[in-house]
Amino acid sequence: MIAFRDVTKEYPNKTVALRRVSLHIAPREFVFVVGASGAGKSTFLKLLLHEEIPSSGSIRVGRFELNNLTPRQIPLFRRQMGVVFQDFRLIATMDVYDNIAFAMRVVGAKEKDIRQRVDFLLNLVGLRQKTHSHPNELSGGEQQRVAIARALANSPDLIIADEPTGNIDPRMSQELVELFMRLNESGTTVVMVTHAHDLVRHYNKRVIILENGLVAADGGLKPSAQIRRQ
Ligand SMILES: Nc1ncnc2c1ncn2[C@@H]1O[C@H](COP(=O)(O)OP(=O)(O)O)[C@@H](O)[C@H]1O
Ligand SMILES: [Mg+2]
Repeated sequence: MIAFRDVTKEYPNKTVALRRVSLHIAPREFVFVVGASGAGKSTFLKLLLHEEIPSSGSIRVGRFELNNLTPRQIPLFRRQMGVVFQDFRLIATMDVYDNIAFAMRVVGAKEKDIRQRVDFLLNLVGLRQKTHSHPNELSGGEQQRVAIARALANSPDLIIADEPTGNIDPRMSQELVELFMRLNESGTTVVMVTHAHDLVRHYNKRVIILENGLVAADGGLKPSAQIRRQ
C-alpha cells in the first residue's frame, strides 16, 4: 500500500526532517508512528499526503508514484485516503451534516447518496443526535468523531491521523483508537501518529519510532519494550 524508498526531506531553511527513510506498509496494516516532538512524524504524513515532496527518494501510495503524479491524478490520489488532524479542522459555519456532506459534494456525489452515507457515518461514530449541531456546540471528542466521519465519507482505503487524540480526554482517546481498530478489521489501512504511549502499549500493533528523522525502531511484537528504549 505504502512504500518509502530512501526518502529525505530537507525544508528550504535547511532543516532535515527525514533522513533516508525506507519502509513498507502493507494493505490492511495498522501502524502507530511515535517519536518526540520534532522527530519528523508530521513531515512523514505530509509526504504521504503529497502536501510536501521529498528532496530525494521516492514514495508510492496505492497505485500512485508520487514523484510522477500528474495534476489530473491528484484528486483520485487524495480520494483513496481520509485524514484526521489533532485540531479537527471542521468548518465552523456548517453543521455536522454539512461538514460531512461537503467532503462528498466536492467529489460530485448525489444528494440522495450523501444523505444515506452521512446517516450511516453518524450512527457509526454515535453522533446521530448531533446532526444539526455546529462544531462550537460539541465537545472535543464529539468534534473529533465528526472529523472521523468526514474522513470516512468517501470510503477511503487508507486513514491517516496526525495526533488525533491530542485534544481529547483519555477515555475518548481510547474509543477513537478502538473505532480505528474496527475500521482496520474491516479492511482499511490505518497510519496513526501519536504521542500517547500508554495508548500504543495497549495494542499489539506495529510501532514505527522516529528519532531525528530516522526510523529508530520498527516492529509490532513488543511495542512496550520498544517505547521503553526511547
Ligand atoms: N515547513 C517547515 N519548514 C521548516 N522546517 C520545518 C517545517 N515543518 C517542520 N519543520 C521542522 O522539521 C522537523 C520535523 O518536524 P515535524 O515533522 O513537524 O515533527 P513532529 O511532527 O514529529 O513533531 C522539526 O525540526 C521542524 O521544526
Ligand atoms: Mg507533528
